[in-house]
Amino acid sequence: MSELNLTDVAKTYGNVDVLKNINLEIERGELIVFVGPSGCGKSTLLRMVAGLEKISGGTLEIEGQVMNDVPPAQRGIAMVFQSYALYPHMTVRENMAFALKIAKMPAAEVGAAVDRAARILQLEPYLDRLPKALSGGQRQRVAIGRAIVRDPKVYLFDEPLSNLDAALRVATRIEIARLKEAMPDSTMIYVTHDQVEAMTLASRIVVLANKGIAQVGTPLELYETPDNEFVAQFIGSPAMNLLPGVITQTGAQTVVKLDGGGKAVSAIATEADDEGKQVKIGVRPEDFVSVDGDPILEGVVDFTEALGEVTLLYFAVEDGTDALIAKLPGVQKNMRGKTVMVSANPDKVHLFHQGVSMRK
Ligand SMILES: Nc1ncnc2c1ncn2[C@@H]1O[C@H](COP(=O)(O)OP(=O)(O)OP(=O)(O)O)[C@@H](O)[C@H]1O
Ligand SMILES: [Mg+2]
Repeated sequence: MSELNLTDVAKTYGNVDVLKNINLEIERGELIVFVGPSGCGKSTLLRMVAGLEKISGGTLEIEGQVMNDVPPAQRGIAMVFQSYALYPHMTVRENMAFALKIAKMPAAEVGAAVDRAARILQLEPYLDRLPKALSGGQRQRVAIGRAIVRDPKVYLFDEPLSNLDAALRVATRIEIARLKEAMPDSTMIYVTHDQVEAMTLASRIVVLANKGIAQVGTPLELYETPDNEFVAQFIGSPAMNLLPGVITQTGAQTVVKLDGGGKAVSAIATEADDEGKQVKIGVRPEDFVSVDGDPILEGVVDFTEALGEVTLLYFAVEDGTDALIAKLPGVQKNMRGKTVMVSANPDKVHLFHQGVSMRK
């Protein structure tokens, strides 16, 4: 039995559809990450699971029990928000114990629950401090501690790290990964805007877009085999390059003639790739390799970004085409204004027809 089961879940505000046909099964112990553009309904979906937002249609089950009309406190879930909102006049220990005391849990049990959470989160040295004497990362850990003490079946996190600076985000992200390892049976749903958090933390990523689920899969499934152009361009940074063309040859290898005088590109074999069909090829910036001859694309570099370990080259194939991006290793000096010639391994070339992947 799955831990959570969403069947045709929908959300409308007035007569505006925000989410439709959300079908998702989540197994115990998974860490599911919701990603998607701002306003696509990530927080709304999380809040429906929490019971903070009414479900307009469909069913939500937790451990086989329909939860649509069950109050939040009886769902066995705990939610951690972006703003940690600790009680400023209470110590770390008191902050973590508060909800349990309100629920009239015996003092000895409260103490044991707080000690366990403090141990998991390495907050033991700070238990008697007030929040103002903690760093942002430590405060967020206390907020997570308030969830842990309740020993929920499901943890919900809504962008818990977005108030932290870059270095602290990385450190806290690793702590969350360790926390998950320390609680292998806990199920977590985690909303983030951060690609790296999604790729590193998730057992599976759910990409939300256009009121529904664009794709669900492991981080590498989404990266390597995106189902559609949206996921192809949403996962991975910088986004996958897309170029229109026509299929000119089928068989073991598909050949696409790029529009606008571009060259022929070989791509992985796919089914039903009829000659003459209009398609788009997709190549990730990091899958371009610089070549001396026989390129699949050739263009003039109009901008570069040197990131140290890689250099991003922005180039246009011909005047007026959108800039393409190649991510080449190391430092590429003085490339601006020069011609770059790139190729890509056919098994790294994606094919899309009417927005949908042609991979079989
Ligand atoms: N109370 C409300 N009444 C009407 N519309 C709402 C309400 N709450 C949210 N919405 C709309 O629902 C949509 C989804 O909002 P939601 O907050 O879930 O997005 P999100 O994916 O979490 O975005 P972000 O990444 O910016 O946090 C948005 O278009 C938003 O304007
Ligand atoms: Mg949100």
